[in-house]
Amino acid sequence: MLYFPGMTDATDQRLAGQYEAYPYPRRDKRDEAKRLVVGSPSHLREIDYWVFGAARPASRTLNALFAGGGTGDGTIMLAQQMASLGRPGQVTWLDRSAAALAIASGRAETRGLQNITWQQSSLLDLAGSGLGPFDYIDCCGVLHHLPDPAAGLRALVSVLAPGGGMGLMVYAPHGRTGVYMMQDALRRLAPPDQPPAQRLDIARRVMKHLPETQWLRYNRNFDDHINGGDAGLYDLLLNPRDRAFTVPEFAALLGDAGLRVACWVEPIRYDPAPLLPDPRLRAKLDTMDATERAALAEALAGNMAVHIVYCVRADEKPQRPDPSLDTAVPVCREISGETLASGIRPDGTMAVNFDGMRIPIALPPLASAILPLIDGQRSVGAIGAILAGRGTKPDVFATSWRQTFAALERINRVLLAAPA
Ligand SMILES: C[S@@+](CC[C@H](N)C(=O)[O-])C[C@H]1O[C@@H](n2cnc3c(N)ncnc32)[C@H](O)[C@@H]1O
Repeated sequence: MLYFPGMTDATDQRLAGQYEAYPYPRRDKRDEAKRLVVGSPSHLREIDYWVFGAARPASRTLNALFAGGGTGDGTIMLAQQMASLGRPGQVTWLDRSAAALAIASGRAETRGLQNITWQQSSLLDLAGSGLGPFDYIDCCGVLHHLPDPAAGLRALVSVLAPGGGMGLMVYAPHGRTGVYMMQDALRRLAPPDQPPAQRLDIARRVMKHLPETQWLRYNRNFDDHINGGDAGLYDLLLNPRDRAFTVPEFAALLGDAGLRVACWVEPIRYDPAPLLPDPRLRAKLDTMDATERAALAEALAGNMAVHIVYCVRADEKPQRPDPSLDTAVPVCREISGETLASGIRPDGTMAVNFDGMRIPIALPPLASAILPLIDGQRSVGAIGAILAGRGTKPDVFATSWRQTFAALERINRVLLAAPA
């Protein structure tokens, strides 16, 4: 095995070796011509809203770090979104893996992106590295692989600019049912000290005859072991170190690092109320704080495989965006307002599906007229004026807008844009 300087233990050596042999996720730069991979965390619309409260001007330089950037999904997404919107700033990709660097930088080159800096090093060495400070830090799918996730998070906080925030993703246990059993089985058949290619061969043979009782067969959250190539199979089932965090464990990790959650993504998934229609049970929620409610939602839903959060420093004053201001500019995160409106059913609800869990979202009757007017440019006041011209009373618009925004913000579909 190659020797990677600065590693903290033998397992970390193996982890570094894995991402050198099988950079993750598997990506081909030729696909950049066909699509942009988008998601959470680190979508520019989400950063503007959940981290900066739709108060940080778009004209202000954004200095972002992707710590453990891998083959570049998040880095490319944010750099492309900033480039397309003419947003000033720089995205720094940082990872230990030279193989991941080659793929990520190839993708950026294919797109002609000029706003990315490449840094091959360990995130654990960030403090005192001269890098940063960063207004925004992404660390997606990395902390749970580290020998000491708290030390990793502290290293990130050390380069976070005042007023900045982070987008983090860690694994969650319940939705990974089957994964740790299979990791255990494979460790017994293919111990981690064996060459990676040999371990992969054994894993493939095991997968061909997976017992029909194995929970992984029922788990609809994954297909990496089937469709993710060598990198996907290795990352999911042969990873030398990954651990999952429950909501309280993750909240404690963040709290110890001096951070507080600005948003669990998607917010509605972390609200147990829709899962408890019985009013007597619902009343119990009133006594719970946000973390307890989120913990209950996690345990009740049983399907969360990851936790994604936006967080900011606990001692900094939260920016509370106000969607009712005439000057606020609503923006759809991905799906256009028109398409969202077309998904409203005759009973006034919209069906959303979170990893197999369907939650009906109730919308007011005026939502189908409001949503097509959202274009990321028009203000709430301007939308109200258009509808007033069609005979809608101002108070009816104000109430309907408040209800529409509250419902769609909770599913992370309609947010507020950064001011110019
Ligand atoms: C599962 S991949 C996630 C990649 C990317 N963030 C994503 O979500 O697509 C984990 C990445 O973390 C990197 N990594 C692990 N430990 C690291 C460390 N101490 N410093 C920098 N990168 C690290 C690995 O090289 C690998 O590319």
